[in-house]
Amino acid sequence: LTEALKRAYVDVVYKPLGFVEMIFPKISDWSIWKKSGHARALYSGFNPYLFITPKSADPSVWEEVADKIKISGEIPFEDLMKNLEPPRGGLEFAQCPPFWTYLEGETVADESLPIKVFDWSGPTYRYESGGAHGFERVDELHRIETLWVGTERQVHELNLALRERFRVLMEDVLELNIRQAWVTPWFMEQKGVIQEEERDMVVGTVDFEAYLPYDGRFLEVQNCSNNGDSYPKAFNVKGRKEELYSGCAGGSFERYLSAFLAQKGFKEEDWPQGFRKYVTKIPEEIKFL
Ligand code: SER
Ligand code: ZN
Repeated sequence: LTEALKRAYVDVVYKPLGFVEMIFPKISDWSIWKKSGHARALYSGFNPYLFITPKSADPSVWEEVADKIKISGEIPFEDLMKNLEPPRGGLEFAQCPPFWTYLEGETVADESLPIKVFDWSGPTYRYESGGAHGFERVDELHRIETLWVGTERQVHELNLALRERFRVLMEDVLELNIRQAWVTPWFMEQKGVIQEEERDMVVGTVDFEAYLPYDGRFLEVQNCSNNGDSYPKAFNVKGRKEELYSGCAGGSFERYLSAFLAQKGFKEEDWPQGFRKYVTKIPEEIKFL
């Protein structure tokens, strides 16, 4: 069903607003997280899986470890750790920060603005420390990141246009029971800053939450944020005349589909017509004895 959801997303959100696909890196080193501000909230809102590299890929360095594995069938962790570097960064947690390395230090020409891109090229990893369960809360999420950069006005207008397209996708196409809520902006939550009470502010995050009939909760499926000037400032990206702003929006394939199946059930004939047109043949499930 992810294919059907992708087709719907392109048709309803990306094509009408002119967003194009891009591949964002999925591994970020500390330099990115220091600039984005995430590093400051390490394991207090920003909970990444870290990555480590071997000190050397020379087989002779690894011979002893490999021999021990061959003989015992177990991993000799103490020996293994001696051959590893300290963590150089981690698997990307928020999906958009590594995008900014493409623009870093540049002045963007007016005719290239606003920049409108999306990335669904790979997973996002979040160390949920045992909080993961079922399909809707997992450590490896397959996310849809929408990102736009422009003048203050361009960013604000795209934010409003995207919010309306997300509403159409969820309410008119998927026919989901949803609600929208102003929440602590993700970039404040993940960086350990608390939002002041200010409902009509332009900078901030709206969450789209879908009702889960099986437990009466609402699940965040999609967010949409105006991030102000924080990213262009942090990565030193300029416009020719005006300073630049940016926004981003995150969706999760797992969460969209959890909410959809929870509300509409597993039978294709019960699904809304507006979504069925994007669905090709559902594969047979694997049967076990
Ligand atoms: N980067 C934003 C987040 O982490 C939107 O995906 O929530
Ligand atoms: Zn983002």
